[in-house]
Formats: sequence, structure tokens, C-alpha cells
Amino acid sequence: MAEFDRIDPAAFNHDERYKFLTATVVPRPIALVTSTGASGVLNAAPFSQFIIIAASPALLGIVVGREPEGEKDTLRNIKETGEYVINTVSESMAEQVQLCAHPFPAHVSEVQEAGFTVVPATTVNTMRIAEAVVQFECKVHRMIEFGDSPATLVVGLVTLAHAAKGVVSDHRVDHAKLQPLGRISGRRYCFTRQTIEL
Ligand SMILES: Cc1cc2nc3c(=O)[nH]c(=O)nc-3n(C[C@H](O)[C@H](O)[C@H](O)COP(=O)(O)O)c2cc1C
Repeated sequence: MAEFDRIDPAAFNHDERYKFLTATVVPRPIALVTSTGASGVLNAAPFSQFIIIAASPALLGIVVGREPEGEKDTLRNIKETGEYVINTVSESMAEQVQLCAHPFPAHVSEVQEAGFTVVPATTVNTMRIAEAVVQFECKVHRMIEFGDSPATLVVGLVTLAHAAKGVVSDHRVDHAKLQPLGRISGRRYCFTRQTIEL
């Protein structure tokens, strides 16, 4: 029989616990969230704590942690406006997405730094990233805080989705065209080109 080590999550400090959990719950899809706060600066940041909450209605969740200095720009913008876009992340966007996670000051737009092309959203007052194969326009459905730090689960109602031509036919998605990038941990990512069917 296999032998196991006992791991008590409470014995780790916060950073160790985060690293242990995020390196084990893998691979994770990445939501590149664009939002525009009251200042008008377009913000973009990646979130791999990204999950489908419900299908009817279409609800997507991201979890935003806290920086030692306070709230992340994404959370502040979402609280201010209640609106944002979740842009999917393809393999070709990897380096730009990593750059968007750099803690730029709030007045700097990560989108410009990364050289992304932006197009206006339709149902929410922010921009979509044209390089993203699918973009979900979202309005806040519910926000719930968890833990001591705290981490905020932001659940958004998808008010409209956009997909690059030829990717979605009816509701069926051509996975090969999506070319999703997965997050492992730290700066380690994976591709999902090799699939199996059972
Ligand atoms: C691929 C990737 C995934 C990330 N996922 C998360 C996440 O799920 N939650 C989180 O709070 N931070 C996550 N981060 C870190 C944020 O992207 C980072 O703190 C960013 O600077 C926040 O930007 P903002 O202050 O503009 O919102 C991730 C970083 C990378 C590179």
C-alpha cells in the first residue's frame, strides 16, 4: 500500500499554504480580467482562481486575494463599477499575461504595457482584449469575503460573450482554436494540446 505524509495546512504560514494549495490544485485556467475604475484607467490582471459557479444563469467566479498594501486594483474597480470583462488566455498570450501580474501603480495601464489591442465592451463600461479568443462581459452578481487575509470571491453574471469567428458554432467550442494556457504555479504554465477521449 502507498505510504502518505500527513500535511497539516494550519502548520504552514499564509504564503506557504497558498503555494501548497495552488501548486496542488492544477492546472488552472486563467481569467484575464479587464476593468475600468472611477479614475478611467483600464486595468488588466490575471486570476487563476477561476471557476464556473452556475450555468443558469451563466455565473463565473474569480477569487481576488489581498496585497500587503491593500486591495488589488481589479477588486477596487469592480467594487466601484460592478462591471468587468473576463478574457480567456491562449498560449500566445503567456508572456503578456505574466507582465499584467506585475504590481504596476494604479495609474499605469497593464494593457498598454503588455501591448494588447482593446475593443469596447457592449453591455459593460470597460474594454475587451482583442487577442483573447473568448471574452465574457460580466456584471457583479455577488461578492463574498473568505478567510483572514481576506480573499474575495467575485461572482459575475455573464451578460454577453464574444468569440473569435469560427471558434464557437452554436454552443460548441473548438478547443484547438482556444489553445488555453494553464497555470501550474509561480511562473510555470502548461498547454492543453494533448487530450484524450474516454
Ligand atoms: C497566471 C496568474 C494567475 C494569478 N491568479 C491570481 C488569483 O487567482 N488571485 C489573485 O488574487 N491573484 C492572482 N494572481 C496575481 C495577480 O494577477 C496580481 O496580484 C496582479 O498584480 C493584480 O493586479 P491588479 O492590482 O491590477 O488587480 C495571478 C498572477 C498570475 C501571473
